[in-house]
Amino acid sequence: MVADIISGNEVAKAMRAEMKEEISKMKGAGITPGLVVILVGEDAASQVYVRKKGEACDELGILSETVRLPESTPEEELLKLIDKYNADARFDGILVQLPLPKQINEEKVLMRIDPGKDVDGFHPVNVGKMVVGADSYLPCTPAGIQELLVRSGNDPKGKHVVILGRSNIVGKPIANILVQKAAGANATVTVCHSRTEDLPGLSRQADILVAAMGVPKFVKADMVKDGVVVVDVGVNRIDDPTAKKGTRLVGDVDFDAVKEKAKAITPVPGGVGPMTITMLMKNTVQAAKVHHGWTG
Ligand SMILES: NC(=O)c1ccc[n+]([C@@H]2O[C@H](COP(=O)([O-])OP(=O)(O)OC[C@H]3O[C@@H](n4cnc5c(N)ncnc54)[C@H](OP(=O)(O)O)[C@@H]3O)[C@@H](O)[C@H]2O)c1
Repeated sequence: MVADIISGNEVAKAMRAEMKEEISKMKGAGITPGLVVILVGEDAASQVYVRKKGEACDELGILSETVRLPESTPEEELLKLIDKYNADARFDGILVQLPLPKQINEEKVLMRIDPGKDVDGFHPVNVGKMVVGADSYLPCTPAGIQELLVRSGNDPKGKHVVILGRSNIVGKPIANILVQKAAGANATVTVCHSRTEDLPGLSRQADILVAAMGVPKFVKADMVKDGVVVVDVGVNRIDDPTAKKGTRLVGDVDFDAVKEKAKAITPVPGGVGPMTITMLMKNTVQAAKVHHGWTG
């Protein structure tokens, strides 16, 4: 069996086209969704993510503002800025790019964002709503994984989903999302981590395997069963003397070997990655709908 490639680029493109149409209708009714992104410091990867978020807003017609603050910004100044945007009706979503510099308490910052503008889905109110299955802003990467599965015809309903990794941004939320009694979910979920006994034995039981560990090419062909659907969340830069830059990106899955056994697999790059920003746009549009009572 050679796997179908689940293209995040294609799914993201389709979703963005749908959103563009929706936003244009909203604009016709005088509603422009707005997103402010706050970046503190000079982290190179964060700079790229923030730029891409701004570009995605421009592409879709979402009002966007990027605030860049120096690395030395005191916590109190950032909190005051969040208060300002909480009260600014032009912006439906507020995103503070993580990680933050050491002097700033991440939890305090995330707690300060109005949960109704928390389009990253990290505020404890939204996390709690996600766990009980109430309407909320779902964290973007896990929500993107669910969309990828459903839109590629791999509905998790009734399937055994094994998740490798239990972080608060990927592993735990995707487990909570897929176990819900809801369309696009209803999965039986197992979560593995560094203390799991016989991880390969469990991963071999997966109908759908989600790898989110940050360990390059960890999942080998003998760790999956024939016909598995694989979602590779990992983004790891490894040395590659044959590449122009001397490095290249790989996932947490040994793609070339595992694709020979899988029914479907996401590539890295071009799989989960493009979905994350697309889901941020979706959450921002959703927030605008709620704020303006738009039922369109
Ligand atoms: N494409 C995207 O948009 C996107 C978004 C977010 C993250 N990512 C990528 O996804 C990967 C995971 O990110 P994260 O933030 O979730 O990572 P993280 O916070 O470092 O968590 C990694 C998880 O994997 C587990 N783990 C690590 N090594 C293991 C091993 N050898 N055996 C078993 N379990 C192991 C850890 O277990 P313990 O809990 O026991 O330590 C932890 O639960 C990274 O490569 C990251 O770059 C991609």
